[in-house]
Amino acid sequence: MFTKKTIFQADLANKTVLVRADFNVPINDLGVITDDYRIRKALPTIEHIRSSGAKVVLISHLGRPANNQDAACSLAPIANRLEDLLHAQVSFIDDCIGTEAKQKISEMQPGEVVLLENLRYYPEEEANDMHFAKKLAKGCDIFVQECFGVAHRAHASIVQIPKILPSFAGLLLAKEVDTITEAIHNPRRPLAIIIGGAKISDKIELLNLFIDKADYIAVVGAMANTFLLAEGTSVGSSLVEKDAVHTAKELLEKANKRMKKERFTFYMPQDVVVAKGKANTNQTRVVDIDNHTWADISHYPKKPTNQAYSVAADERILDIGPMTASAIKGALSQAQTAIWNGTAGMTEIQGLHGAAAPFSHGTRVITEGLIGQHAGDKNVPYTIVGGGDTVGYVESVSGLREQLGHVSTGGGASLELLSGQKLPGVEALLDSEQ
Ligand code: 3PG
Repeated sequence: MFTKKTIFQADLANKTVLVRADFNVPINDLGVITDDYRIRKALPTIEHIRSSGAKVVLISHLGRPANNQDAACSLAPIANRLEDLLHAQVSFIDDCIGTEAKQKISEMQPGEVVLLENLRYYPEEEANDMHFAKKLAKGCDIFVQECFGVAHRAHASIVQIPKILPSFAGLLLAKEVDTITEAIHNPRRPLAIIIGGAKISDKIELLNLFIDKADYIAVVGAMANTFLLAEGTSVGSSLVEKDAVHTAKELLEKANKRMKKERFTFYMPQDVVVAKGKANTNQTRVVDIDNHTWADISHYPKKPTNQAYSVAADERILDIGPMTASAIKGALSQAQTAIWNGTAGMTEIQGLHGAAAPFSHGTRVITEGLIGQHAGDKNVPYTIVGGGDTVGYVESVSGLREQLGHVSTGGGASLELLSGQKLPGVEALLDSEQ
């Protein structure tokens, strides 16, 4: 349950409301926004504030600009997109503090919307500077936190402004926190977790928490290589995290202990797709690392060679194999809740001449388990998707996002929340009981 006050509990009429959004969206070299999901997700909050007769002052960061000359990080394109989406004028001020911004704010009419320039053009934002927060808050009556994607950062606009103005959660922030914490504390079971991505070290807490709580965990992606290595499987020249092999062993021990005691599965790839490099021109083959599910077709009916079971020294694991993908899909058809963080392979590598992406098969099969294979399929879990790469993949497949229960607008923030950590940007808000 969300325990902070939301905009529904704020008296907004005639107030000037400062809204910290996360408009950190991808913009191409031509200045065109290539995905406006985060902007669209903030609209209900903006519309609610406007329709309550308040003035809306929007602030956000974009990218990680080195200084205020970094024009590629300007929020100007966001103002245009907001105008299209809100069907209303959005005035853009090319500074987030200073006299022009303050003058404009003082002249605003109820229902008007202003967007100020990138907060990170000032180093004081990331330095969590109180004086900077005071300058931002000047002329505003109420603060609304709507920046879930960056709520894990202790930056001036996120944790200092709530010390100055009465602060409420926006609807997106409340929904994100509520959905993710419910899935951790009160999930409909069975609860399945698919964890991938490159590094175990980024997800140790997540793994630790869910080895205690989940009914099923599948480890995929480059992270699985480190687990395979920890188990003694040769992974050739695959991406591994040597420093994390010990941690992987400890996590495996913990998982094995639980598996002996109760119904819980910690699943690692049985087969993998390998190639000598990640270019889409390289020949690939499936290696049956589990040694008993697959035969090397060219040797059939003779006994397959060792090569069929092992990744060669010069080969890299680039995706899970078809057996593994099917096994995960099968497990998902039994789950009521699924949390997915991390793709199964190098989905970002495009296929040759428009062919299917060579290392995205495993991820695609996993999504079939999450959304069902046929329209109206009922055996699908409520799915929460988080993490930059995973959401990037979801966005690249037309119509997929709409079929998944909750696609988080947060990368690092959703990971921290899923790992059981508190987010500074949420903690800073007024408690519902206050
Ligand atoms: C994100 O894109 O994950 C958020 O906007 C946070 O951005 P940051 O990692 O640059 O703080």
